[in-house]
Amino acid sequence: MSTKPVVVYGASGYTGRLICEYLRELNVPFVAAGRDKDRCQEVVGRIPGIETADVDIVEVEHTVEALTDLFRGASVVCNTVGPFIRYGFEVAEACLATGAHYLDTTGEQDWVMAAQERFGTDFADAGLLLSPGIAQMYTTGEIAANIALETPGLDTLDVLVLWKGFPTYASTQTIFTILKADWFHLQENQYVKVDPLSRWDVVVPGRHELGLAVPWGGTSHPVWFKNDPRVANVTVAGGVMNRPVMEAVVATTAAVESDVKTLPRDQWDDALAAVADQWATGMPPRENPRLNVSVDSVHASGPLGRKHVVIHGNSNYKQTGLLQAWAAMSLLQQPPLKAGFASGCQAFGHRQLLGVLRQFGLVLDPVVTEHR
Ligand SMILES: NC(=O)c1ccc[n+]([C@@H]2O[C@H](COP(=O)([O-])OP(=O)(O)OC[C@H]3O[C@@H](n4cnc5c(N)ncnc54)[C@H](OP(=O)(O)O)[C@@H]3O)[C@@H](O)[C@H]2O)c1
Repeated sequence: MSTKPVVVYGASGYTGRLICEYLRELNVPFVAAGRDKDRCQEVVGRIPGIETADVDIVEVEHTVEALTDLFRGASVVCNTVGPFIRYGFEVAEACLATGAHYLDTTGEQDWVMAAQERFGTDFADAGLLLSPGIAQMYTTGEIAANIALETPGLDTLDVLVLWKGFPTYASTQTIFTILKADWFHLQENQYVKVDPLSRWDVVVPGRHELGLAVPWGGTSHPVWFKNDPRVANVTVAGGVMNRPVMEAVVATTAAVESDVKTLPRDQWDDALAAVADQWATGMPPRENPRLNVSVDSVHASGPLGRKHVVIHGNSNYKQTGLLQAWAAMSLLQQPPLKAGFASGCQAFGHRQLLGVLRQFGLVLDPVVTEHR
């Protein structure tokens, strides 16, 4: 049973810790939970100023029963235990059983779709928010897209999301877990499969050097805009701002297609985990805003208009931590704008979320150019 209104599950991880940091700054009492109490204690205990936070540290087993016991009494759960297509179901199930809003940090299109299908109606009926993916990938780009869509008559979104930094252990596992799934863009309001071997040279706003981007699992944007009457088409390219790394991602994706996806299905998980382990580099250093930058760029177009919105930011894991903590804080004070399955912008408003990121120095004012 939680004696605090917010539970951060996965608090021993890189992103869980950042959510805890921002909950402290927002003065929200919380439970820092994970499968290993000592690890949670060690990680959370190193947060500067943690002695001023109202926090309990709790060990919990990853089962619906144990998570349900823990979440009872809480209003919001921030889940950072990914890959979510592997570990998310139990957590969402426990939220539903206890009447807690569910937030997570996923960037996995297949999990976003699965969560919508399996839990969307039940969360809506209970008046609870089910928001997989309140995170830099892809909430910041969703903010840019919604700023573009403030101009009526633009129905096509061409999105680019890039960041500079090192993925964490779970992020790396996640990036490779996504390779199991089919990936989709949106064409005339219908999902269309994307070739996993697609690669694009992209013009990165603010740079002369071309970037290399890939479908990055399809991303959440096609799902968020599927039932948006303003939007018919969504394509997304993403990756990290490091061309040699992206060349290696392309080569690894090709190897997975030829060497892993040709194995019997029950062998894929182990084979993919082995590939991911080759990439794992341990816990990345704390982000440095001079080095760890992000760019979210959206070209929106329609027959009689064009608009380009760019959000330059920094510290994409910190953006994620802040967005989660702020969303949790907001849910303690008022209901979401939309209950059930909803994106960050649908639940809290894109201008509001932009303001939060600006308030903490994590993004610049968007650069907007428009022709009509
Ligand atoms: N979309 C975005 O922009 C964005 C941003 C940040 C993170 N993410 C995603 O969020 C997830 C977490 O990332 P992270 O940076 O926090 O990774 P991390 O540092 O590797 O932390 C992962 C957390 O999950 C826990 N965990 C792993 N396997 C578990 C299991 N079987 N049962 C219970 N707990 C388990 C870990 O516990 P232990 O410490 O005990 O191992 C740890 O607390 C990843 O899927 C990542 O892709 C996405």
